[in-house]
Amino acid sequence: MRILAIETSCDETAVALLEINGALEKPDIKILGNSLLSQIQLHEKYGGVYPNLAKREHEKNLPILLEQTLEEAGEDKESPNIDCIAVTAGPGLEPALWVGITVAETLGKKWNKPVIPVNHMAGHMFSVLYGTYEALVMPALALLVSGGHTELVYVKDFGDYEIIGKTRDDAVGEAFDKTARMLGLPYPGGPQISRLAQLSRERKEEDEIKLPRPMIHSKDLDFSFSGLKTAVLYKIKSENRSDSDSEFKEDMARAFEDAAIEVLVEKTRRALEKLDNIKTLIVAGGVAANLHLSQEIKKIVNEFPDISLRMPTKLLTTDNAIMIGIAAFIKIGIGSEILKNQIAIKARGNLSISPVQGL
Ligand code: KG4
Ligand code: ZN
Repeated sequence: MRILAIETSCDETAVALLEINGALEKPDIKILGNSLLSQIQLHEKYGGVYPNLAKREHEKNLPILLEQTLEEAGEDKESPNIDCIAVTAGPGLEPALWVGITVAETLGKKWNKPVIPVNHMAGHMFSVLYGTYEALVMPALALLVSGGHTELVYVKDFGDYEIIGKTRDDAVGEAFDKTARMLGLPYPGGPQISRLAQLSRERKEEDEIKLPRPMIHSKDLDFSFSGLKTAVLYKIKSENRSDSDSEFKEDMARAFEDAAIEVLVEKTRRALEKLDNIKTLIVAGGVAANLHLSQEIKKIVNEFPDISLRMPTKLLTTDNAIMIGIAAFIKIGIGSEILKNQIAIKARGNLSISPVQGL
């Protein structure tokens, strides 16, 4: 099956042409063409992503990336050899999502190919299918951590999902970004915080700055990160250290990273204990690029000998179109109802992962 995939949910415009065959748990994924353009530099000066600016950039760049992808795949730009088009329908910024959807539907009509709406978080979840020949054994638990989401999903099977824990306020990636901003670091903050935290760890064994671990003792599997962000702000104010104090910034970044990651890892451990039947732990989304997170997650996986850990390769960790194509392949494979009668696709900013809402 050849899938042309389009992703425009946030600040990355991405197109990929994939050939995917085989079983859902162990697909053979070939990337025939892949183009991605990040708007990070543009949004950097505002410290975040502006939806209408993102939309304008997607409109400008998507046709160029489409052409590049088809060219890389050696395909005829007027009638490429594809079976369907996959596009992110949500969650994300609606003005940005509409750009991808409109282009996908126009091409679908022109080439007479079905258009498959994909949930961006399902894309992150199934990004782990690429780059390995190991089968993904169900049931799985997925810790999905990105700029807009922090959730624990019980993946009973392909197409059967239940969110068992989520953030009540900020997403963890958003907390990384906001903390970075308070420390005068550029957007996106995750990689910056991570880099500084590492410097602090290399410099000294103990970090004297202590921050709370929000909701770590709560009985449920929910998260909260807005209090942690406020705690960072108070610490910065009360310590009254100068802006140019790089050691303070490094220690602060480390204190934040330690606190945020400890909560993620502890709740994941609790979910694994509670469910008791999990075979695979998936950790995916932009924050999965965090080295401290992967190190700490590996430690708990060692406590559960029957569970194997799956994380995306670097290419697939932050937003991309490859994962959207893979999620479409899964959706086709489970015979989603939505695919049987093609209806106009709507951008849904708050689309959540569930079998009912169609992946
Ligand atoms: O999945 P993603 O690319 O976009 C969304 O769907 O939101 O995730 C972006 C988020 C940003 O908040 C960014 O700061 C965070 O992922 N991120 C990281 C790291 N790399 C990216 N957070 C912590 N550590 C990192 N190394
Ligand atoms: Zn994402």
